[in-house]
Amino acid sequence: MAILVTGGAGYIGSVTVERLQAKGEHVVVLDDLAYGHRETLDSGIPFYQGRAGDRALLARILKDHEIESCIHFAALALVGESMEEPRKYFENNVEQGIALMSTLLAAGVRRVVFSSTCATYGEPDEIPIREQTRQWPKNPYGWSKLIVERLLSSYDTAYGLKFVALRYFNAAGATKRCGENHNPETHLVPNVLAAALGEKPEVRVFGNEYPTPDGTAIRDYVHVNDLADAHILALEHLRRGGASEFLNLGTGHGYSVLEVIDAARKVTGRAIHVRMESPRPGDPPRLVADATRAKAILGWVAHESDLAAILQSQWEWMQRHPRGHTASGN
Ligand SMILES: NC(=O)c1ccc[n+]([C@@H]2O[C@H](COP(=O)([O-])OP(=O)(O)OC[C@H]3O[C@@H](n4cnc5c(N)ncnc54)[C@H](O)[C@@H]3O)[C@@H](O)[C@H]2O)c1
Repeated sequence: MAILVTGGAGYIGSVTVERLQAKGEHVVVLDDLAYGHRETLDSGIPFYQGRAGDRALLARILKDHEIESCIHFAALALVGESMEEPRKYFENNVEQGIALMSTLLAAGVRRVVFSSTCATYGEPDEIPIREQTRQWPKNPYGWSKLIVERLLSSYDTAYGLKFVALRYFNAAGATKRCGENHNPETHLVPNVLAAALGEKPEVRVFGNEYPTPDGTAIRDYVHVNDLADAHILALEHLRRGGASEFLNLGTGHGYSVLEVIDAARKVTGRAIHVRMESPRPGDPPRLVADATRAKAILGWVAHESDLAAILQSQWEWMQRHPRGHTASGN
C-alpha cells in the first residue's frame, strides 16, 4: 500500500517524503515541477510529473500502485501573485483539487491530509489563533485553500472522505538534504540568510508601523521537520479511524521580522542590511497559532522549532547549496 504525495518535490513535501521513507512507508510522488525540484527525491521513489488534477494520469497512478491515502501539498502559494492573477490560483488550487478528490473517491481512497494555511484566517480577530477563529482570507490564495477545506468537509459528510486539514503557520528551516529554495523566494528566512551570504544586498522589510512592539509583522515559525512529522501523525490518526480535523500547526510564539533578522545576525555572525518598504497589501500584523488541538488530537509538539535552530539548519543548507537545489544535484 502506498501514499500518494502531490507536490512531493516541493519544499515541505520533499521533507515529508524523506521522513515517510525513513519510517518505511511506500510513497508515490506526483508533482508538475512548476516549483519543485526532482533532485530532492530519492531515485527509488516512484515519480510522476504532472498536475494533481490530471484524471488520466491519476488513473494510471492508481492502476500502477495500491494507493491507500493522499497527502495533498500541490498548490501555488505566492500571496502577491494570487492578488494579481487570481484565476491561476483558483484553477490550480481549487479546480485541480476538486479533480484530485473526485478521482481518489472514485477509486475508494478515503484518507487525505491537506496542506491548509493560516492565510485562511485573514486578519484574525483573536491571537493566538484557534481553529474556531473566524476565517476570512485577505487574498485569493487564502480563499483557494479555504474552498478546498469546505469541499473536504462536505465530502466527509456526503461520501465518508476522512481528512486532516493542517493549517501551517510559517514553514522554515532545512534538513541535511532539503532546504527552502523557492523561485521567486518570498519567505523571510531564506531571504535574510541570502543577505547574510551576500547573495542579496539587503533584506526588504515590508512595513514598520504595524501595531507590534517594533512595528514589524509578527509570524509563528515552524521547523519543516516538525511540519513533516505532523503529516505522519495525521495519517496515523486517520488509519486508526480518527475523525476529520482542522488543526493549526504553529509554536504559539511569534517573532517580528526585526527579531528574526537579529537572530540571523547571531547565528551567522554576518552583517545583514535592512531596507524598509511599504507594507504589502493583505499582510496582517500578527499571526500566531494556538496549536493545543494538534497536541491533543495527534500528540504533535513542535520539538525542533526553536528560532536559532531553524536559522542554523537553513544556514548550513544554503552554505552547502549556494545555488539552490538544481545546481547541487542533491
Ligand atoms: N511554506 C509555507 O510556509 C506554507 C505555509 C502554509 C501553507 N503552505 C502550503 O503547503 C504546501 C507546500 O508548500 P511549499 O512551501 O512546500 O511550496 P512549494 O512550492 O515548494 O511546493 C509545492 C509543490 O507543488 C507543486 N505543484 C503546484 N501546483 C501543482 C499542481 N497543480 N499539480 C502538481 N504539482 C503542483 C510545485 O511544483 C511544488 O513542487 C502548499 O500547498 C502551500 O500552500 C505552505
